[in-house]
Amino acid sequence: MLSAKASHDSHGQDSSYFLGWQEYEKNPYHDEHNPSGIIQMGLAENQLSFDLIESWIARNPDAVGLKKNGASIFKELALFQDYHGLPAFKNALVKFMAEIRGNKVKFDPNKLVLTAGSTSANETLMFCLAERGDAFLIPTPYYPGFDRDLKWRTEVEIVPIHCSSSNDFHITMPALEKSYQEAQRLDLKVKGVLITNPSNPLGTTMTRDELNHLISFCIAKNIHIIYGAAFTLFTVCQRIWASQVFELA
Ligand SMILES: Cc1ncc(COP(=O)(O)O)c(C=O)c1O
Repeated sequence: MLSAKASHDSHGQDSSYFLGWQEYEKNPYHDEHNPSGIIQMGLAENQLSFDLIESWIARNPDAVGLKKNGASIFKELALFQDYHGLPAFKNALVKFMAEIRGNKVKFDPNKLVLTAGSTSANETLMFCLAERGDAFLIPTPYYPGFDRDLKWRTEVEIVPIHCSSSNDFHITMPALEKSYQEAQRLDLKVKGVLITNPSNPLGTTMTRDELNHLISFCIAKNIHIIYGAAFTLFTVCQRIWASQVFELA
């Protein structure tokens, strides 16, 4: 009774990652009550800025109470709005994105589309940039949800860029080239490289050299870079962006 897509096992729900979650939930580790339980190592949550957020919320109760200058703006927020995202929010975001780059780069709010979380941004990007059977190269280890979010409905393929612990999981030019060749061997057209920086699951950040190599590689192959920052959505596509960063670097 289900569609071929729903009944097919390509959605990644039965991957070792999600099976691991299920096992953890049945038997979670606790140092006193369940010392032989399972330790969850599949989840990395950035809690570093919680104190800043909590104190900001305490100083700005209107934001949590959906108010502006003490008066409710609930109806304004609850009704349909611009489906590309609230213009005021997009304007504030482009200002912030430029500010944290020392105002060396400008962003156009009209080219910004806001989504509810990066899962939907990632899938939307696949639909926008790739056809069924095209591929994105992704450094390992990568966020396991990508097997579901990027591939399932779009039928886009992931080809891993194998990174090694002996090299602190840095992305090397030979690894990039090897992954590109592998995609070609599989008869897949490579549409881009997707990186998560800081990395989920490693929590590491890429070096300037690594970024420069990556940008040179993508320019040489004429492919996209999707740059995602784990936990904070700054998913930026467009080759033009790569060349802007290249000029700055
Ligand atoms: C790389 C990456 N992509 C996507 C997600 C899911 O993000 P969201 O909850 O915003 O959809 C996460 C969450 O940890 C992530 O690390």
